[in-house]
Amino acid sequence: MVYVTIIFVSLIIAASFTESLVFVFFTLIYPILYLANVYFRRKRLNSAQPWSINEKVILITGASSGIGKSLAYLCAKNGANIIICARRTEMLSHVAEECRKINDSVKVLKVKCDVTNEFEVSQMFEIIKTTFNRLDCIILNAGVSMGEQFEDVDYSIIKNIMDINYFGATNVTHKALPLLKNNKKSRILVVNSIIGIIPIPLRTGYTASKFALRGFFESLQGELWKDEIFVTMAYPGSVKTEINQNRLGSNPRELDFSDAISSEECARILIEGISRGDKEILFTNRNRLVRLIEGIYPELLAYFACTKGKKHVNLGRNNQ
Ligand SMILES: NC(=O)c1ccc[n+]([C@@H]2O[C@H](COP(=O)([O-])OP(=O)(O)OC[C@H]3O[C@@H](n4cnc5c(N)ncnc54)[C@H](OP(=O)(O)O)[C@@H]3O)[C@@H](O)[C@H]2O)c1
Repeated sequence: MVYVTIIFVSLIIAASFTESLVFVFFTLIYPILYLANVYFRRKRLNSAQPWSINEKVILITGASSGIGKSLAYLCAKNGANIIICARRTEMLSHVAEECRKINDSVKVLKVKCDVTNEFEVSQMFEIIKTTFNRLDCIILNAGVSMGEQFEDVDYSIIKNIMDINYFGATNVTHKALPLLKNNKKSRILVVNSIIGIIPIPLRTGYTASKFALRGFFESLQGELWKDEIFVTMAYPGSVKTEINQNRLGSNPRELDFSDAISSEECARILIEGISRGDKEILFTNRNRLVRLIEGIYPELLAYFACTKGKKHVNLGRNNQ
């Protein structure tokens, strides 16, 4: 709907221009590019279908709380065998128990694993091979955030965030690929953030890690296309989880989450997205608009990011 409106508005603007090049762009080239985009989306979805999580083997990183925990429950409910990993073992055990209560016919394997630790990640894959010798999907969800001005931040936090959010995800992917490649149409779901599209102040390290994921997986998709392994990049907005309590550094944790969705709702949208083989999941129409503006009018988006960001910086100062 948004696209149609934009084309319509573009045509009206075009009519008011006399210069032929501008006219040709708005009336001919822009609609053709739009239709090509729709065509390639359909083509991807046709190659990706059909894919249901039932009886699949799915690894979820960062499953001890929040979105990862809700994903584990939803996967178990829908008949997927799951491997859940995180660092906090007690919380992980609780999630595993709940999954078994939800559906006792699925296998649930819990592994204590810090995604930044190469040895622990390798060990986890040994256990996965021994238990399942198969993997259909990885959900790269483990992540931490921050909320502090760059000049005030302890620099180790910037490295730590990159280590968990970016190197953690690429490390798991590297070890998972041999197993994923054994099955056609395997899936990789990356839990990015809307901040991976529109950067805002106080989140420098977090933004960098999420932008890095985007670049990495766009490139990797090119390598995996021939194997029919599809990457879905999800860009949630606010989701009610522990993410702010767990933020690294000394920073304000009380944010306005009044328009945040629940982690259960987020998990539902994510699973629907990977089942379809979507390239991106944008959650709300506002976020779809942000994505569209980023593609066409990047300066406009950068301006909004800075003005919205100014409020965040002031909020940060008031809370300190
Ligand atoms: N909540 C939001 O508003 C929001 C919005 C956009 C994107 N996201 C993204 O969603 C993902 C999940 O966050 P959440 O909101 O569900 O927050 P959360 O409740 O704090 O969950 C984060 C999960 O990541 C795990 N984790 C952190 N560091 C890890 C490490 N080194 N190794 C293994 N696991 C690790 C945590 O487990 P342990 O501490 O037990 O290891 C926890 O299970 C993150 O990637 C985040 O960037 C969240």
